[in-house]
Amino acid sequence: MAETALVTGSAGFIGFHTSQRLLQAGARVIGLDAMTEYYDPALKRARHRILGQSPGFTPVTGRLEEPGLVAGLMERHAPDVVVHLAAQAGVRYSIEAPRSYVEANLIGTYEVLEAARAVPPRHLMLASTSSVYGANETMPYAEIHKADSQMSFYAATKKATEVMAHSYAHLYGLPVTMFRFFTVYGPWGRPDMALFKFVKAILEGKPIDVYNHGDMRRDFTFVDDLVEGLMRLRSAVPGTEPVGEMDSLSPVAPFRVVNIGNGAPVPLMEFVRAVEAALGRKADINFMDMQPGDVPATWADASLLQALVGPLPKTPLEEGVRRFVDWYRELYTDRSGG
Ligand SMILES: NC(=O)c1ccc[n+]([C@@H]2O[C@H](COP(=O)([O-])OP(=O)(O)OC[C@H]3O[C@@H](n4cnc5c(N)ncnc54)[C@H](O)[C@@H]3O)[C@@H](O)[C@H]2O)c1
Repeated sequence: MAETALVTGSAGFIGFHTSQRLLQAGARVIGLDAMTEYYDPALKRARHRILGQSPGFTPVTGRLEEPGLVAGLMERHAPDVVVHLAAQAGVRYSIEAPRSYVEANLIGTYEVLEAARAVPPRHLMLASTSSVYGANETMPYAEIHKADSQMSFYAATKKATEVMAHSYAHLYGLPVTMFRFFTVYGPWGRPDMALFKFVKAILEGKPIDVYNHGDMRRDFTFVDDLVEGLMRLRSAVPGTEPVGEMDSLSPVAPFRVVNIGNGAPVPLMEFVRAVEAALGRKADINFMDMQPGDVPATWADASLLQALVGPLPKTPLEEGVRRFVDWYRELYTDRSGG
């Protein structure tokens, strides 16, 4: 029988790509998304429209924290895997609107955990973030490093979901993998993230804001490479045996945390140059101070991921940026004229 997957946040950037790959692999996908207004819901609807072209896709519109919603989906579809990607994301917005992080991330993840307790999937896979490494200075960031100094409320809620999920894994024997994603980019990307903002501003002849005067490094990870990691991790269900000394596997639960990142941090100005090259235009740069809640660098130690699923593709930055620009031009400039 075909695999059934419940994907939360299926109209989001990563959820869309993940659902698409699952459908291509022959899975049935139940895609839950609230189409929140954090960024343009039209982009989310467009992603769902594409997924809807596949007969294996069942869209559901609703909020995670609506009591009984996720539980009802679990009862009805008994998915083999749950890929929980829906969240209120964004470091900067968490300073303005912390309550939405409590609702979507804490209460929302609680609803997913409760639903999975009642109807346990073979593997419960939940998104966390590299932001949980917060003030850590030891690079690259490894999953076995202590990560207790979150710098933003977004990161704090994501760290909380990790420990909430650990307790469910321990109490109810639920196999849980949590992913710490590192700055994901690619076609259908998020309008609140640097690549989208840079491309939009440069094409409109407006200046781009570059924080910490450009003295930042990010472990940019191309979305297809990340989704390949997610796809392979479906069958790396945590058990009782660690895969090596770098394994974050809990001693008391089928639970591990896994970095999904490229493992090669890129200086922000190099990233800007790649965007300029892809667009064939120079950026007008507005150098800014460091933003509250932000960290100067991220860098994934990807050795645990590699031990679990083998080497993953690493799309070169120039190619990944070019693919984003091609998508952006097609969607926002060629057809509508802006
Ligand atoms: N994109 C990145 O670089 C990155 C990095 C680290 C972690 N993450 C995490 O990966 C996951 C996916 O991120 P993304 O970049 O695709 O973000 P996204 O904002 O594009 O997708 C999240 C989706 O969840 C939906 N959603 C939000 N709150 C909801 C709620 N209460 N109920 C139901 N649906 C809700 C939104 O409508 C959106 O479509 C998130 O958990 C995010 O925190 C992303």
